[in-house]
Amino acid sequence: ALGAKARAAGYRLRAFDTIGSTNNEALEAARAGDPGGLWFAALQQTNGRGRRGRPWASPYGNLAASLLIIPDAAPETLGTIGFVAGVALNTALSQSVPGAGVQLGLDAAAIADGQGRFALKWPNDVLADGAKLAGILLEAQALPDGRRAIVIGIGVNVVAAPAGTPYPATSLAELGATVTAQDVFAALSEAWVAMFALWRDGHGTADVLARWRSCAAGLGAPVAVQRDGEVIRGIFESIDDDGRLIVRDGNNARIAITAGDVHFGAT
Ligand code: BTN
Repeated sequence: ALGAKARAAGYRLRAFDTIGSTNNEALEAARAGDPGGLWFAALQQTNGRGRRGRPWASPYGNLAASLLIIPDAAPETLGTIGFVAGVALNTALSQSVPGAGVQLGLDAAAIADGQGRFALKWPNDVLADGAKLAGILLEAQALPDGRRAIVIGIGVNVVAAPAGTPYPATSLAELGATVTAQDVFAALSEAWVAMFALWRDGHGTADVLARWRSCAAGLGAPVAVQRDGEVIRGIFESIDDDGRLIVRDGNNARIAITAGDVHFGAT
């Protein structure tokens, strides 16, 4: 079941019960010369990795998936690819995916008005009712021919949320959804294809970012962003067309942030 939709979506899939880290598998495949267009999916990881060197808890039954792609795109555009994944994931979780034959439909109204249960937290967490439901880890691998392989790792708390995180976390089970990791993967891989197709042409990039903004958590609200030992405080204004977080500080200066940890409500 894990495989059918991914193949239908035109990608190959290597599915595992338990693996160290699907991102590690994908990076290894890139180094071994895989042409890209390959998903790795597992029900459990023993060495799951999160953003900024943190571990990612991957208990059995949650979804761990990584996509290896080698995009035929200018390197400067690659920075926005994580947003394609975030929007695809939010779409997959929030609504049924047209044509996918997969009906997660957990919150059909969410995408339409941006006020729904699911929201994207910069750069690419999915929040449900303000608690973290899913995360994305983007990694790149330089290839001998000068191109860059991109690995998009996606972890979704399907059956269990990690305990002891410094932020609130939740799972689809806690939200009352009786879906499996296979269901989520099927919807995700279908939604990815649609969003990636949008991203590939120039207008699509802006369109994907516009969709991201329409699902953004905390727009217009106070944020504190932790960046390499400093904390930037202000109002979360938007993300720009390169996917940078734009914060307006107390002096009305516009600060563009490429990497950091966002905390809402803290001023
Ligand atoms: C984060 O929010 O810190 C990102 C979490 C990303 C976790 C996923 S699970 C699949 C893939 N393999 C990994 O080792 N990490 C990513």
